[in-house]
Amino acid sequence: MSRRKFLKTGALGIGALLTSKITANNNTISIPLFNATKGKPIVISTWNHGTAANKAAWKVLNTGGTALDAVEKGVRVTESDATNRSVGLGGLPDREGKVTLDACIMNHENECGAVAFLQDIENPISVARKVMEDTPHVMLVGKGAFQFAMAQGFPKRDLLTPEAKKAWLKWKESEEQKKPEVNSENHDTIGMLAMDEDGNISGACTTSGWAYKLHGRVGDSPLIGAGLFVDNEVGGACATGLGEAVIRIAGSHTVVELMRHGKSPDEACQIAVERIIKKHKDIKGLQVGFLAINKQGEVGGYSVYAGFNYAIKSKKIKKLKDAAYKMEW
Ligand code: GLY
Repeated sequence: MSRRKFLKTGALGIGALLTSKITANNNTISIPLFNATKGKPIVISTWNHGTAANKAAWKVLNTGGTALDAVEKGVRVTESDATNRSVGLGGLPDREGKVTLDACIMNHENECGAVAFLQDIENPISVARKVMEDTPHVMLVGKGAFQFAMAQGFPKRDLLTPEAKKAWLKWKESEEQKKPEVNSENHDTIGMLAMDEDGNISGACTTSGWAYKLHGRVGDSPLIGAGLFVDNEVGGACATGLGEAVIRIAGSHTVVELMRHGKSPDEACQIAVERIIKKHKDIKGLQVGFLAINKQGEVGGYSVYAGFNYAIKSKKIKKLKDAAYKMEW
C-alpha cells in the first residue's frame, strides 16, 4: 500500500485492517480485532443512573483529567441523588432504619481505598479515596471510618430521606427478609470504570447495599477484588447485584484475570457469571452483573438475568446498552 493510500485510509481504515481471520464451515471470515466502543478516553458505569454519572466523569476525561478524578466525580453524582434508593443519600436503610454505605476506589498504580458500614456521610467514595491517599491502610469501617471522615472535614448528614423512611416503615410491617427484587427500579450499586487520555484505568464502586439487610452487613462493593478490581496492565472490572454471590467468586478479580488470559471483556464477564450460576444451588432471583474494560479500551458486560444495562461515554459513543445475559427473568 502506498503511503498516500495508507494515510487516506485514516483511523477507520486502520481499524478495518487490523483483523483476525478464522475459518468456519470452510469459509474464511475476517473479524475486526477492535469492537465499536474502542477509543480512549472512555467511561462505563452500571445501570440507568450511569448516564448522569458518566456525564460528570466525561467532563474530567474530556479535558485531559485523570481516570481517578473521573470515577470519583462520576459516582458522587449518584451518591448525592436523593431519588436513588440504592446508593448514598436516599438509599434504603437496614433493618434498624440506618443507612449504611460501602464504597471503594482503585487507581492505575494498584493503589486502593475503601470504607464499609459508614453512616451519615453523603459521599463515601471520597472518604475511600482519602483512605487510599492519606493513610497506610486500604479499608476503614463503621465508627472508625466515620471518625476519619470527620477528621478529614467531611460534613455529617442524615441520609435517611422521608421517602426511604416511609418505605422502611412499610417493610417493618412484615419484616420479610427476602432477596432484593431482580432489576427492581433498574438499581443497585454504581460501579464505574474509566480510561483516560494516557491510557490509565481507574474504577469506583459505591452502594447503600441490600435494602433492610442485617445491621452490620457489608456487601461486595467495598471489597477490592469483589465489587471492583483494576490492573492497569490488563483492564478493570466492577460488579452489581447480590454482593454475597459476587464475594463468593471474588468476582471482579476473576473478570480481570480472565482478560489477562486472553478473554474479551464480554467473554470474561460471561464466564464469571457462569461461575456464579454453577456455584449456587438456587440461582432463582439472584441477579449479578459485571462490567469490564480492557487495555485496548474495549468494554463489555454480562448478567445472570435479563435487564442489566450500562452507560457508555466516549468521544464517539453516548449510549445505554443492554448487557447480554444468561436467563430471562
Ligand atoms: N452489590 C451491592 C451489595 O450487595 O451490597
